[in-house]
Amino acid sequence: MMLETSVAVDPALIEEVRTGLQLMPKRLSSRFFYDAEGSRIFQAIMHAPEYYLTRSEYEILDTYKDDLLRLFAPADRPFELVELGAGDGLKTKLLLGHFHDAQADFAYVPVDISADALTGLVTDINRQWPDLRIRSRHDDYFNALEQLSDESDARRVVLFLGSNIGNFTPGDAVDFYGQLYDRLQPGDLVLTGFDLQKHPSIIHAAYNDQAGLTRDFNLNLLRRINRDLDANFDLDTFSHYETYNPENGEARSYLVSEKKQTVQIAELNMAVSFEPGEIIHTEISRKFTRAQIDDLAHRTGFSVTGWFTDANGYFADVVFER
Ligand code: AVI
Repeated sequence: MMLETSVAVDPALIEEVRTGLQLMPKRLSSRFFYDAEGSRIFQAIMHAPEYYLTRSEYEILDTYKDDLLRLFAPADRPFELVELGAGDGLKTKLLLGHFHDAQADFAYVPVDISADALTGLVTDINRQWPDLRIRSRHDDYFNALEQLSDESDARRVVLFLGSNIGNFTPGDAVDFYGQLYDRLQPGDLVLTGFDLQKHPSIIHAAYNDQAGLTRDFNLNLLRRINRDLDANFDLDTFSHYETYNPENGEARSYLVSEKKQTVQIAELNMAVSFEPGEIIHTEISRKFTRAQIDDLAHRTGFSVTGWFTDANGYFADVVFER
C-alpha cells in the first residue's frame, strides 16, 4: 500500500497567482519567497559579500547592546522582548545572550506565522539558556500584540529587525506603525532595522550578487508555483533583473521572460502568456533617509528615542517610543 502525504497549498498563494499574473504589469508578492528552499537561500544571501545589511545590523547590535539594554530597561524595569518574525537567530541571540548575562528581568516572545521557524528557534534557545523565559506565539503579528497587551504589565519592546520594513510599500509602512501604536501602551518601544540610502552601486550590488543567490531566490518563486500549483514555468527561460532608483530609494526585483511563451497553471486552470522581455515584479526593498524615518515615526504618533548606525553609516536601528 502506498501512503500519500499532501501538504495543503496556502490559499493566499492561490489568490496572489490568480490575480497578480492577470495584472499589467504582472506582479507577485515577495512574501511568497519563503518556502523551505527560499528560506534556505535567504540564509545564504545574508552571508553573501555584497549583502551588507545583515553584517551592518549585527555590528550595530553588538556595539550598542549595553545602550539598548539601558533604553529598554531603565532602573531595571521588567520588559517583554517581542520579536516580529522569528528572526535569523544570530542577531537575536546576540541580544538575548547579552541581556541574559546582564541578568535583565525580561521574557522573549518570538511571533511568527511559521510554526517550523518558531520550533527551531525555541529548541535552540532552550538549549543555550535553559532559564531564559520564552513564550513563542504562532500567530499573525497583530493578533499576538493584541493578546500581549491583555496579559502583562511589563513594558513591551517590539523588535522588527533586518530591514523587513523595506519590503512594505510606503502606505503599508504607515498602516503598520499605526496599528502597532494602537496595540501598544504609552512608554512601550519599537526597535526597527532600516537600510539607509547610500551610493546606488552598493545597493544595486547587494541584490545582484556574483554567486547568483538573489537570482535563485527570485526564481525559486516560480519553482514554488510549479510545485504547489502544478504549473510549468521553465526556469531557464526567465531571468533575474534588479533596479535601484536613487531618487526614491527603491530597489526592485523582477523576473523577465526571455521569450514569447505561454505557461500553464493546472491547479488554477489558467494559461498565462508572456511577450519576450515581459516582467513580473516580485519585490520592493526600500532604502530610507533619516528624514523619512523621523517622518514615519511622527505621522504614526511615535517619537524617536534612539538612533544607532554602523561605522559605514549603511544601516540604522531606530527606537520609536509610544
Ligand atoms: C527580507 N528582506 C529584508 C530582504 C531585503 O533585503 O529586501 C529580502 C531580500 N531580497 C533579496 N535579497 C534579500
